[in-house]
Amino acid sequence: MGSTLKESDELVNGEESDGSFYSNAANYWSKVPPTVDGMLGGFGVISHTDISGSEKFLKLIYKWPNPPGNRTAVDCGAGIGRITKCLLQNHFENIDLVEQNPNFLEEAKKSLSNCKKIGSYFPIGLQNFIPEAGKYDVIWCQWVLGHLTDEDFMKFFQRCREGLSNDGVIVVKENISADEVVRDDLDSSVTRPLKALKSLLHQAGLKILLNHRQRKFPSGLLEVRMLALRPAPVSIADGGDLNSQENSMEAG
Ligand SMILES: C[S@@+](CC[C@H](N)C(=O)[O-])C[C@H]1O[C@@H](n2cnc3c(N)ncnc32)[C@H](O)[C@@H]1O
Repeated sequence: MGSTLKESDELVNGEESDGSFYSNAANYWSKVPPTVDGMLGGFGVISHTDISGSEKFLKLIYKWPNPPGNRTAVDCGAGIGRITKCLLQNHFENIDLVEQNPNFLEEAKKSLSNCKKIGSYFPIGLQNFIPEAGKYDVIWCQWVLGHLTDEDFMKFFQRCREGLSNDGVIVVKENISADEVVRDDLDSSVTRPLKALKSLLHQAGLKILLNHRQRKFPSGLLEVRMLALRPAPVSIADGGDLNSQENSMEAG
């Protein structure tokens, strides 16, 4: 359903400054059932492969000489808590969820009711979320960033930088378009090419330390990338210029 646009000011600078980009998305999601299939656009079947790819990616991060802690994570655009339930609760002592759709949050609360590791549920959009300074070892953002305008995307990640604990890491896992920003008017989102994502993250003061492609998804789906990010500039302890360390591998 997406119509292709050039990376023009029309989209990038959010001409819908009346907020309709956000209200249309909220309206779209309000009609989606609070199920794994709903979260994944009818592709619930890929959830296991997705989680397994994320698990491998996270393990690589924890092999670093200065890995993040295992105390606190936040699931951004958490939906029904699929990622918290299947991945984050196995790695962190305390997990917060940010999700603006009340039905999804309700379902997340039900589904995670036996999990003792849930901290706060934030019922707001990421454009309004201000992470507590220094709180998070990992900030996980998956399949939600296309719902932010470029400006809000950048500001969100600037705030996330401040929300990281010492050695904290931001993980971005998103669909990638081939070479242009692709707009989907159905769910009011954009899919960005990797170069646009990198440019925005760079402008937000972040460096990419790992850049892996999710593998084993059914053919016909968009490419999915996992990025691990830390604030730039990095300290000597991180090994100097991490731009040169960006590890762009395929990973399953
Ligand atoms: C494709 S689903 C992915 C959910 C979850 N990340 C997962 O992978 O299971 C997109 C989610 O982003 C949420 N969302 C949409 N716009 C948002 C915004 N501006 N801020 C926070 N969440 C948003 C939707 O309500 C929905 O739960």
